Amino acid sequence: MKIKNICCIGAGYVGGPTMAVIAQKNPHINITVVDINEDRINQWNSSELKSLPIYEPGLDKVIENCRGKNLFFSTDIEKNIDNSEMIFISVNTPTKTYGDGKGMAADLRYVELCARKIAEVAKTDKIVVEKSTLPVKTAVAIKNILDETGSGVKFEILSNPEFLAEGTAMRDLEVPDRVLIGGGQDESGKKAINALVNIYASWVPKQNILTTNLWSSELSKLVANAFLAQRISSINSISELCESTGADVDEVAKAIGMDSRIGPKFLKSSVGFGGSCFQKDILNLVYISKSLGLNKVAEYWNQVIIFNKHQRDRFSKNILNSLYNTVAGKKITFFGWSFKKDTNDSRESAAIYVADSLLEEKANIHIFDPKVSESQIYDDINSLEKRSQKLNENHLKFEDNPYEAAVDSHAVAILTEWDQFADYDWKKIYNSMNKPAFIFDGRNILDKEEIEKIGFIYKGIGKS
Ligand code: NAD
Ligand code: UGA
Repeated sequence: MKIKNICCIGAGYVGGPTMAVIAQKNPHINITVVDINEDRINQWNSSELKSLPIYEPGLDKVIENCRGKNLFFSTDIEKNIDNSEMIFISVNTPTKTYGDGKGMAADLRYVELCARKIAEVAKTDKIVVEKSTLPVKTAVAIKNILDETGSGVKFEILSNPEFLAEGTAMRDLEVPDRVLIGGGQDESGKKAINALVNIYASWVPKQNILTTNLWSSELSKLVANAFLAQRISSINSISELCESTGADVDEVAKAIGMDSRIGPKFLKSSVGFGGSCFQKDILNLVYISKSLGLNKVAEYWNQVIIFNKHQRDRFSKNILNSLYNTVAGKKITFFGWSFKKDTNDSRESAAIYVADSLLEEKANIHIFDPKVSESQIYDDINSLEKRSQKLNENHLKFEDNPYEAAVDSHAVAILTEWDQFADYDWKKIYNSMNKPAFIFDGRNILDKEEIEKIGFIYKGIGKS
């Protein structure tokens, strides 16, 4: 099947950048990204590139080049489904917050709504591509919904999980380690797989495009995230051991990472991993394993999440204990709120949970982040439903200047590894703070010796 028109449902952190790159590399294909969120679509269509709904280095240039030529953003979901031969489903799949599987299973209601919408409006055969991260076997449910229409329209389901990381999304999409495509193994399934392979082959070497059956593809996405997160929890567990023994976790990470069997990546000890996916996808894996009666498998992976929470708690406790066991009424400045550098995304950021623990201790928190907005920070903290909005507003302040944010504070806590933090005038910051002045470096981005020379008491992760 020759693909001329693609519709992507979901204009978020994945749908937007992914389709922008596919459009850039396939000028002969028209791509429309649709969403029910009108504000989001308006932002994608904004002539002011600073107003795009997500911040991702390099994204604005690709949007500028393709938008209005072969890349479009629209709220007209029905028309664009009908017009397209291939439809990507790239909607959110958060952890369920209700009913059976609450707090663990993936909430598939948005995916199901997409399948029902496609079933309702499709008048010609379609290839439906799962781009969202989904529990293994979801394709069966999608296929059942699509096949029940009685319209005679034929649907092929593919799984094409996305492996981009935020902050490096454009590079990850341009030079992916691999593209994974799962599909049916019969003739029409293979034709559909080929149609998608050809789209990626416009820029990805064929040997990096991996094709598998549907279930291997769906499961591989969950497993990839579980393995990545596991490495972080593993090194974070060692950070605690380092703090009690005089070893330095960065030195240990370097030493083990030089073993080519272990490798150097994802060994950066931190205040804990955040982001919308690691926890959600591992919980999903744990839920699936439990549902299949594989309790030992479930317990094994659940430990990755348990340790991540422990690492965040340890960081907050360290602040409390170091500040003489009381932070009530004390000003603590946060540098960073996003879950990692180079993104405005703060979903599940460790900063939210550290702030929550300190607010429970009646601290006053002032936050500076280069990209996260004030309203987002309040939404994040209010969404925990721990305190009244008024109380949160009284004790948590947004700052747009890092130096002013630090004035009169007892401690600076670094929650995100934004590059600019290392370049700040730390002497100036020190002079403006209450003494003794503490730095809690949740990302180990500052040079301990240099910082201590200024007069700070420095507490890094996995450093004694
Ligand atoms: P997101 O919340 O940023 O975007 C999802 C979009 O889908 C929203 O704009 C929402 O309005 C829209 N939507 C929901 N239901 C809809 C419907 N019925 N019709 C039309 N639009 C609808 O989510 P995201 O971060 O882009 O993640 C999407 C999926 O990709 C998730 O399954 C996630 O696990 C996976 N994923 C995310 C990343 C990442 O870095 N964020 C990376 C790889 C995979
Ligand atoms: C992660 C995966 O890296 C992507 O491959 C995947 O597509 C994506 O999840 C997803 O499915 O959503 P992302 O969450 O955007 O991408 O960013 P990462 O670079 O993986 O970082 C996740 C968290 O781990 C961040 O809070 C980061 O600071 C932390 N981290 C990462 C560490 O603490 N140490 C490390 O060594 C690496």
